[in-house]
Amino acid sequence: MARRYGRDILDIAYDEMRHFKWLAPAIAQMGGVPDLKTSPVAPVTTLQAALQKDVDAEVHAIDQYRDHIEVIPRASVRGLLERIIVDERAHLRHF
Ligand SMILES: [Fe+2]
Repeated sequence: MARRYGRDILDIAYDEMRHFKWLAPAIAQMGGVPDLKTSPVAPVTTLQAALQKDVDAEVHAIDQYRDHIEVIPRASVRGLLERIIVDERAHLRHF
């Protein structure tokens, strides 16, 4: 999988890191503390299972960002989240 899709997965990982770089100051400006904790990664044994987990994660991320847009009053942060959703939808199509 890494040989076949490694570059694509790395590009998506860079996007996710960029999202954190964008979000961290916004979270801090709203009085929060950016959280670097990650969820445990469950092992998968097939490419199809791995891609399905990625699809599920992207759908979950988009849903979460949509929920946040509904409740965050700051327009600049809502705009940032809309921009990130554009990337997440591209990731979803890719997977
Ligand atoms: Fe993503």
